[in-house]
Amino acid sequence: MKLQSAIRNPQSAIVHVSLDERSYDITIADGALSQTGEIARAALGDKTRRVAIISNPKVHALYGKGVEKSLKQAGFATLTHLIGDGERAKSLRTAERAWGFLIANRFERSDGVIALGGGVVGDLAGFVAATFLRGVNYVQIPTTLLAQIDSSVGGKTAVNHALGKNLIGAFHQPRAVVIDPGALRSLPERELRAGLYEAVKYGVIRDWELFRLIEENLDNINALDPALMSRVIARSCEIKAEVVTADERESGLRRILNFGHTVGHALEAVTAYRRLKHGEAVGYGMKCASTIAEKAGIIPPAEADAIRFGVDKLGSLPRIDDLKTQDVIAAMSHDKKVAQGKLPLILPTKIGSVIVRDDIGPAVIRAAVRELLAARY
Ligand SMILES: NC(=O)c1ccc[n+]([C@@H]2O[C@H](COP(=O)([O-])OP(=O)(O)OC[C@H]3O[C@@H](n4cnc5c(N)ncnc54)[C@H](O)[C@@H]3O)[C@@H](O)[C@H]2O)c1
Repeated sequence: MKLQSAIRNPQSAIVHVSLDERSYDITIADGALSQTGEIARAALGDKTRRVAIISNPKVHALYGKGVEKSLKQAGFATLTHLIGDGERAKSLRTAERAWGFLIANRFERSDGVIALGGGVVGDLAGFVAATFLRGVNYVQIPTTLLAQIDSSVGGKTAVNHALGKNLIGAFHQPRAVVIDPGALRSLPERELRAGLYEAVKYGVIRDWELFRLIEENLDNINALDPALMSRVIARSCEIKAEVVTADERESGLRRILNFGHTVGHALEAVTAYRRLKHGEAVGYGMKCASTIAEKAGIIPPAEADAIRFGVDKLGSLPRIDDLKTQDVIAAMSHDKKVAQGKLPLILPTKIGSVIVRDDIGPAVIRAAVRELLAARY
């Protein structure tokens, strides 16, 4: 298996996402940004003459030139289109401007899109690539930890609608993902931590060793030790790849990736998406799911404690003790995943394993949410 050999060189790894003709590799290596051209050429083929780099001003100022140079060395002509920074830029208006840019530059179906940035850039550029001329190839170059271990892998692309997040989108797999853990050195500490909650999530749903690796090495993770970061990123991507391979369009197993997300999304919604980073909301959501599982007798109390402690260990979360239990519960019932009035919850049975249950009584859920909101962090 490629990953095993790559892990012997502890600072790099390749994870393969196996989806028939939509398969691709995720390359994880310190300094990988300077290999973008080579990787993109191998993934896009010789027919691709031009690529459009979609990024935002902040990320482009840091890494745009290097990526462009590497692409040119691999024989691509490059165009650059910058979008605004932040979640508000993930809109149909931004997509429309990007489509306009590609049309004005006579972009062709054989040309490619390069998404350089965090999850906002990745989702928007992926959506543009999915829809322009009924779909052009694209390469993801994620530059936040959240994007490196989550949003760049799996082919979900989307923009937000005034009535809800990620409501307009398409499944469109990238041709390659290029991950440079070195790019995390410029990332604000809070953004790094927001991504770490998602790495903890992979540990809880699938791999207690990953959970323990993060718990026991937090100082080195915060110092961005290259070998350790490559391991955490590679294992997280591998888990996401496994799950996506088994269930590309989220009809079954892929739902386990939503562990911590039902309560997490509700907390984001009741705080108008302003107070919590997505990963932070997932941190709270994982704690609450562990409490629900404990109260429902699904997980032993000591194991639920270990998950809650693991989340707390990452650092303090923004306060939520002013929120009302009934508002959070109401927001949970608006979740996209509610089907026939039943809310499927992803609940841990132990660290490394989760189940989906839609039969948990409202009293248990209410009590767990109340406890979460009452606690002081
Ligand atoms: N498609 C999926 O499967 C999926 C999964 C999870 C999340 N998402 C989406 O991802 C988005 C969140 O992504 P995010 O957390 O990466 O946020 P983001 O893209 O807004 O990036 C966070 C901030 O970090 C900056 N930044 C990015 N890389 C940097 C770097 N290397 N150095 C310094 N600053 C840098 C950005 O400019 C931004 O200000 C949400 O829209 C969410 O819906 C999608």
